[in-house]
Amino acid sequence: MCGIIGYIGKRQALPLLVEGLRRMEYRGYDSAGVAVAMPSGIFTAHAVGMINALDEKLAALSGLAGTLGIGHTRWATHGGVTEQNAHPHADCTGDVWVAHNGIIENYSELKNELTARGHVFRSETDTEVLPHLIEEAARAYPEAGLGEQVRVALQKIIGTYGIVVLDRRAPETLIAARNFSPLLIGIGGGGIGDGEYFVASDASAVLKHTKEVIYLDDGEIAVLTPRGHHVSDLGRNTRTKTSERIEWTDDEVKKDGYAHFMLKEIHGEPEAIENSIRGRIVLEEGGARLGGLADALGVLREAQRILIVGCGTAYHAGRIGEYMLEEYASIPVETDIASEFRYRKPVFRPGDVLLAISQSGETADTLAAVREAKQKGVFTLGIVNVVGSSIARETHAGVYQHIGPEIGVASTKAFTSQVAILALLTLLVGRQRDMSLVTGERIGSELKKIPDLMREILKQERAIKKIAAKYKNAQNFFFLGRKYNLPVALEGALKLKEISYVHAEGCGAGELKHGPIAMIDKHLPSICIVPHDSTYEKMISNMEEIRARKGPIIAIATEGDERVQTIADDVIYIPKTLEMLTPLLSVIPLQLFAYHFGVQHGHDVDKPRNLAKSVTVE
Ligand code: AGP
Ligand code: GLU
Repeated sequence: MCGIIGYIGKRQALPLLVEGLRRMEYRGYDSAGVAVAMPSGIFTAHAVGMINALDEKLAALSGLAGTLGIGHTRWATHGGVTEQNAHPHADCTGDVWVAHNGIIENYSELKNELTARGHVFRSETDTEVLPHLIEEAARAYPEAGLGEQVRVALQKIIGTYGIVVLDRRAPETLIAARNFSPLLIGIGGGGIGDGEYFVASDASAVLKHTKEVIYLDDGEIAVLTPRGHHVSDLGRNTRTKTSERIEWTDDEVKKDGYAHFMLKEIHGEPEAIENSIRGRIVLEEGGARLGGLADALGVLREAQRILIVGCGTAYHAGRIGEYMLEEYASIPVETDIASEFRYRKPVFRPGDVLLAISQSGETADTLAAVREAKQKGVFTLGIVNVVGSSIARETHAGVYQHIGPEIGVASTKAFTSQVAILALLTLLVGRQRDMSLVTGERIGSELKKIPDLMREILKQERAIKKIAAKYKNAQNFFFLGRKYNLPVALEGALKLKEISYVHAEGCGAGELKHGPIAMIDKHLPSICIVPHDSTYEKMISNMEEIRARKGPIIAIATEGDERVQTIADDVIYIPKTLEMLTPLLSVIPLQLFAYHFGVQHGHDVDKPRNLAKSVTVE
């Protein structure tokens, strides 16, 4: 959830730490802090708020020289948002400092035991037990290296962690360890042996300095020194790790002149779709070629059911995939929110395939659902954006989204990319079953047109901004859709909620009469997704029912539909496409509406309050 950064090498650590924290601020940003080892001791600074608050503190200081340091942006789970609770946290001596991402589930008993043994705690966090446990290990094993002392401490931990550790008494050592929370090691520009390493929660923090990274796996500890690195597990077994090359460029992590990453990423959706489908549509066969599934074709051919899991936006994409696969691949599909899936007792059957959808590839509940399915012998697939992420590595096979980093916390291009890949999966599985060549060709050729159709919609941004301004004072919204556009209604409502903090409810339009219509009055606008598709007439009836009760209506309709203008107060038109591909278009106006609504309310739409980009805690 939060951002962790560590550095050891020849350069001054502090500017590298602050720069890295800025690149990861979207991950979690209620407070931040740094600790740097200096000849005179450990320098630390903490601040509540965004990185700017920390930077202002640091700017007032001089003479901060040190080449070993750690930093952290926090998304609080235990203990309020205060400077006292900001990481890094220290032991009693002030020698050992730790920054942590995750949750220590047994922290309370550990804290009681440590307090009983005389340790003094300064914060309310679960994290702070770690430096004190390391302090005790250092006292018990003074000759052992910092890595061994951290290992001893971690053996007492139940929970999730990604940590970086430094000790004033070991100025040439930086420790990184991971269990369930993502952590990578960036190998300095001069390559291994050049004595420079970064540790970070994600690649965006180190991209400017290196593209060569090592992804730590659960239960691994890395000891980093100017002479090299060593990775082992909690059982002291050496782990051989190979470095990977990050696909992304540093420029992709910048805004390129857009006011916000979210707006850049919405305008980047046509290109994102082009990248997601590039080389994967085989028109002459009416099918799709997904390299990551090459070894899974047999399993897919024999599959009797597909179970789709995801959280938030990824779940909404999965719901669309459910309709696609059922209608065009004639395979039973169940979609569930990952946090529900893993706690109910899913009854797996032979022939089940689990499909996990996750942009970050690190969402704790989705990863846990994958592990639960694998535990039961179920074949698992992933649709993931971040290369080398946990879900990408732990599923048996999968498809990368290839859309570059998505920095805005509110997911946009990741959603449409996931829907496009689900259409490709539908082609692949459908052509293994009863989908005809003609149908496959039609879907494939329509999918190729989607990026340009998206570009047509993006040209309406100014009109959509005006509509957002017109409804600026509304405090509640309905988002209504049917069939393929019900998940789009859910997604549109989520977008508006998470960046403008007004309440919005996504609802199946057919459900309106079963209760929700009681909410309709002139103060509650309904955004109705009503393309010319198999549910058009039903949607029109629902809109008439709303209008009869003076509910304002904003319609997302197919170009040329004049009838809808007689019912809706405002209409945003989208081009015509296949019903199953309509979500790729109907969601764009909702994303732009939410963006401009949030901006007009003065919110930081890239870093909405209380949220973080990747929910790596449960
Ligand atoms: C959507 O805008 C949110 N950022 C959130 O719902 C997100 O989609 C969800 O946390 C899943 O993230 P993932 O795709 O990285 O697993
Ligand atoms: N659980 C720790 C805390 O609340 C870390 C939270 C995070 O991942 O930022 O401080």
